[in-house]
Amino acid sequence: MSNLSSASPIATKLARKVMVRCDHLGALSDDGSVRFRPFLSPATARVHEALRGYMNLSELEPRVDALGNLIGHYESKYTGDIMQAPSVETLLLGSHIDTVVNAGKYDGILGVLVSLAVVEAFHERAQALPFDIEVVAFSEEEGVRFGVPFLGSLAVSGQFDESLFELKDDGGVSLEQSLVDFGCHPAELPDADLRDALAFIEVHIEQGPYLASVDAPLGIVTDIAGQSRVNIVLQGSAGHAGTTPMNLRQDALVAASMFICEVERMAKATDGLVATVGQLQVTPGAINVIPGEVQLSLDLRHPDDSVRTWAVRMLEQYATSLCHARGLQLSWQITSEQVATPMSATLTSQLERALYDAPKLISGAGHDAMVMAKTIPTALLFVRSPNGISHHPDEIVDERDVALAIDALLKVIETLATTGLSQRLDTPGEFYG
Ligand code: HGY
Ligand code: MN
Ligand code: MN
Repeated sequence: MSNLSSASPIATKLARKVMVRCDHLGALSDDGSVRFRPFLSPATARVHEALRGYMNLSELEPRVDALGNLIGHYESKYTGDIMQAPSVETLLLGSHIDTVVNAGKYDGILGVLVSLAVVEAFHERAQALPFDIEVVAFSEEEGVRFGVPFLGSLAVSGQFDESLFELKDDGGVSLEQSLVDFGCHPAELPDADLRDALAFIEVHIEQGPYLASVDAPLGIVTDIAGQSRVNIVLQGSAGHAGTTPMNLRQDALVAASMFICEVERMAKATDGLVATVGQLQVTPGAINVIPGEVQLSLDLRHPDDSVRTWAVRMLEQYATSLCHARGLQLSWQITSEQVATPMSATLTSQLERALYDAPKLISGAGHDAMVMAKTIPTALLFVRSPNGISHHPDEIVDERDVALAIDALLKVIETLATTGLSQRLDTPGEFYG
């Protein structure tokens, strides 16, 4: 009988609370018409306030680190012989709270609320654990405000490069200044480094159609596809739409359109490659002026890094020859790269034991887990997206699946607690599969 068929009463009760909280936090947006909560925004501050309240209910001690991550610390209440106890380590749980524009209610925040629900279960049962737990509400996973994703998890995993503090948002405000304005202390970056944690486990919606297609409520992620983000500017010549002959034009938008069609052609012709142009800015953008400049974004992903980097190179070559042939200038800047990242073998097999018939899958979406896995044994548990939709208000999740995720996480943590900490979880590099 599948252990995924029905959830425990406590998980069912907590799942209800998680769904109500998703509704409440889903209403906290910086945009009046669509759901949008960028990094360090006023709505983010209100989410912090609400999460602090939830944390206090289960005796988690909240703090905000140098990169604006909100972290709730839960004491282990270890009652064994402290002389025998291993050095009290910390298990990290959590996900992100920032959103894309026109977002759904569950991307990121569901993982934070499921993590808080699991701690609430331990707290309610006054169950001692041989390690502390910290629930992390990561900031800037999406990379919408500063163009570079995973800033919060880069800091927590000890991989944050201080040059990133100089990143500027569209308003010209630096990352460092925006952190100070939010009440953070960038100089405390070293204290944000939690890479000596026992492990990190993230729960996240799948954001795709696979689990629904195999009628599975939960899935175990074995690898996360690598991703490249590129900022591209095609510089031509603006001109009068009525007087400039067609053969004398350097029309940046026509060239951009040809490039975008090549992006789609290449992705369709290359197994496993997904490529997206999500942003397009036409200047000057007047109906009777030939477009002089186009800025566009490129998002490329593939489970095999050699294919992804090959595709980046091929598309750069295509853009270069296209601009040369049409008398345009090309600016091609890779703004972010994450290599394909396998999850921890030990931790993932613990998840498998807790969920023996859950399917395993590769994640096309990037997650804080792909950054954390570089320095901390990490696992990622997916919750079914019943309609396969995400980064869209129609994003949904089934409450019964959320309850099963709570049960699964409780089970894995209890297994971690009972297997003792001597069986040091695999250090990054000994990966799954
Ligand atoms: O873009 C992504 O893959 C994720 O939603 N940050
Ligand atoms: Mn997302
Ligand atoms: Mn996400």
